[in-house]
Amino acid sequence: MAKILVTGGLGYIGSHTVVELVNAGFEPVIVDDLSNSHHQILDQLSKIIGFKPAFYQFDLCDENKLKEFAAAEPDLEGIIHFAAFKAVGESVNNPLKYYHNNLASLLNLLRQYSGKTLNFVFSSSCTVYGQPDELPVTENAAVKPAQSPYGNTKQIAEEILKDAVVSGDAKKVIALRYFNPVGAHESALIGELPIGVPQNLVPFITQTAIGKREKITVFGNDYDTRDGSCVRDYIHVVDLAKAHVAALKLMEGETFAGYDVFNLGTGNGNTVLEVINAFERATGVKLNYEIGPRRSGDVEKVWGDVTKSAKQLHWRAQIGLDTMMSSAWAWEQYLSENPI
Ligand code: NAD
Ligand code: WQD
Repeated sequence: MAKILVTGGLGYIGSHTVVELVNAGFEPVIVDDLSNSHHQILDQLSKIIGFKPAFYQFDLCDENKLKEFAAAEPDLEGIIHFAAFKAVGESVNNPLKYYHNNLASLLNLLRQYSGKTLNFVFSSSCTVYGQPDELPVTENAAVKPAQSPYGNTKQIAEEILKDAVVSGDAKKVIALRYFNPVGAHESALIGELPIGVPQNLVPFITQTAIGKREKITVFGNDYDTRDGSCVRDYIHVVDLAKAHVAALKLMEGETFAGYDVFNLGTGNGNTVLEVINAFERATGVKLNYEIGPRRSGDVEKVWGDVTKSAKQLHWRAQIGLDTMMSSAWAWEQYLSENPI
């Protein structure tokens, strides 16, 4: 059974990917420093997969700890690197924290495993596209100047990975550019765990619906879109997780070499108001929302061209917006009874 290091594996996307790795016959080994997660997620995962996966708690920016880990787990066949800080707003206020954490962790991994034949999957983001010139946005679209230090860490990381493949430090690398991951596992035992006031739309919706927040503000309805609110490509986190398995399988084959990048979205865009309506339709819960001013830094509309992912990863998102909303709601309800 191929052992796969899942950095940030107790986080939102990492934990869902651990489940899909097990479902696909891989053996996940989790490293997480719990800077944005909780040890309890390990127990939640055990309830889903039926056993407690190997877990090492340390900061990947600590070279010595990573060396000790590598000695303890010498037979890894792949790495999925989720571990990073991801709050766009925080990155503007504290750029050095983001550049250090997101890049030092990557560099440590690449140096620790330099020259080893490990398949490497990297968590990138559609944020690298900024406001695309053409929609849907393809992987060949220009990478625009980053809108935040966080987005810049993703752009720089992609460049580092490309250079690492050229130098032979890394053998096979796939960067996955996620659009907007939302929703939760069908068991409602794992999901998004925003710490403090949620920055993202869907956790804000579910916290409003459960009564933790008084109302939602729609950040602008004067954009050039169907109903004036921004458009995004929302993708269920389980679909996203399955794409990581597909990426590993592509690299296990003989046809893949070097470095490549894939969009992970549904290929469709929905407005903020459409998401709110989908939530109300899917759950029967009426949401209290108001229209407010635009949020600075927001792109008006972005959704992905997923042709390349479909053809080469043999993967397509399957889960629709209503299920994205109902699964997010089930997780919020679980959390209200079982705080983590
Ligand atoms: P998350 O914060 O839930 O998960 C990240 C995990 O990594 C956390 O459990 C955290 O404790 C851990 N971590 C962070 N720095 C670490 C370090 N130095 N050493 C060890 N562990 C560390 O975030 P997520 O939403 O699951 O995102 C996972 C990845 O996907 C990130 O790289 C993020 O930038 C990227 N991404 C996320 C989104 C999104 O909307 N969630 C969109 C695009 C890309
Ligand atoms: C979605 C839409 C908001 C909250 C961010 C990061 C990106 C990636 C995914 C890490 C936007 C609107 C939101 C609210 C609202 N993260 N909104 N009221 O901004 O597309 O992407 O998360 O990689 O890098 O930029 O996601 O969920 O914050 O917003 O109207 O209370 O919902 O304006 O149009 P975003 P989001």
